[in-house]
Amino acid sequence: MSESVHELQSRALAQLDAIWDNESVEAWRVEYIGRKGAVNALFEQIGALPKAERGAFGKAANELKNALEAAFQAKVGAIKQRALSEALEAEPLDVTLPGRQPARGHVHPTIQTLREIYKIFGEMGFQVYRTRQVETDMMNFQLLNIPPYHPARDNWSTFYVAGAEEKVLLRTHTSPGQIRAMRAGYPNPVRAILPGMCYRYEQISARYEIQFNQVEGIVVGRHITFGDLKGTLTEFARRMFGARPVRFYGDHFPFTEPSAQMDVRCIICEGKGTDPLCKYTGWLEILGSGMVHPDVLRNGGYDPNEWSGFAFGMGPERITMLKHGIQDIRYFWGNDLRFLEQF
Ligand code: PHE
Repeated sequence: MSESVHELQSRALAQLDAIWDNESVEAWRVEYIGRKGAVNALFEQIGALPKAERGAFGKAANELKNALEAAFQAKVGAIKQRALSEALEAEPLDVTLPGRQPARGHVHPTIQTLREIYKIFGEMGFQVYRTRQVETDMMNFQLLNIPPYHPARDNWSTFYVAGAEEKVLLRTHTSPGQIRAMRAGYPNPVRAILPGMCYRYEQISARYEIQFNQVEGIVVGRHITFGDLKGTLTEFARRMFGARPVRFYGDHFPFTEPSAQMDVRCIICEGKGTDPLCKYTGWLEILGSGMVHPDVLRNGGYDPNEWSGFAFGMGPERITMLKHGIQDIRYFWGNDLRFLEQF
């Protein structure tokens, strides 16, 4: 009997040796080690044997089963390996070819500018502070010296939030953050920038968007002067735009007194006044600024007899446009990769 087990093993292995495709190897498995295969048939014979032979026969059958299963696994692996080598030879891989560059995302140009602004003011000791985009009329206007029906409201066309009991709106500028930063800071000095999204009810055009960023700045201390304003903002312009002349030009905001816009020399015409970018003035307006109005200091919790401060507000989209000569503000929300990929 043991002899026939041995023969069965030789026959099966010889057959397997010659097999090199998946279909035949599967047929082989069914024939020998499948549920109704030759090996299981041997096990079924055990019962019919004399008791004394059963042990040895069972052991031999088990060894056969293990040997055939191992051979089967090895064969399956070998077939896979051979198929792979054949494929590689049929279409050779040139490992010296440069790889395909996966498309990389870009940081949005506005965010790049914002990060530059954070860095510059961060190095000057400013904290970054964020306040809400949905504001009350009180914060956005009244505490900034702009009562209801004040003509200056025309400068900030407003989206109102329907259904609120108090007048609620999408902030039209980051200046309400001045009040919030002062109230959070009192009685300590304040030195913070407040970046964030603002909204205005505008006809969208190359120059106006209904949604844009601003960065507000507020400094409050015991002896803050207009010289501090000029020095801080001139240094900001130097780091942002390189060494080029700046000027402070009279302006008006209800919440600062006196007020000034800061201009830098036109990056195209260099002051000659020959380019539409600067509207032929030779200067580009960069930001609005001024000394914090005494009423506003008071609304922030500070006694204007002891404290003074300056504030400023700038638009990162506008700054990005000036730096790169971008002609149309609508690109910033256009999601056009041909635009975004340039930055
Ligand atoms: N909030 C003003 C605007 O939106 C800018 C500004 C901020 C001016 C702070 C002076 C001081 O135009």
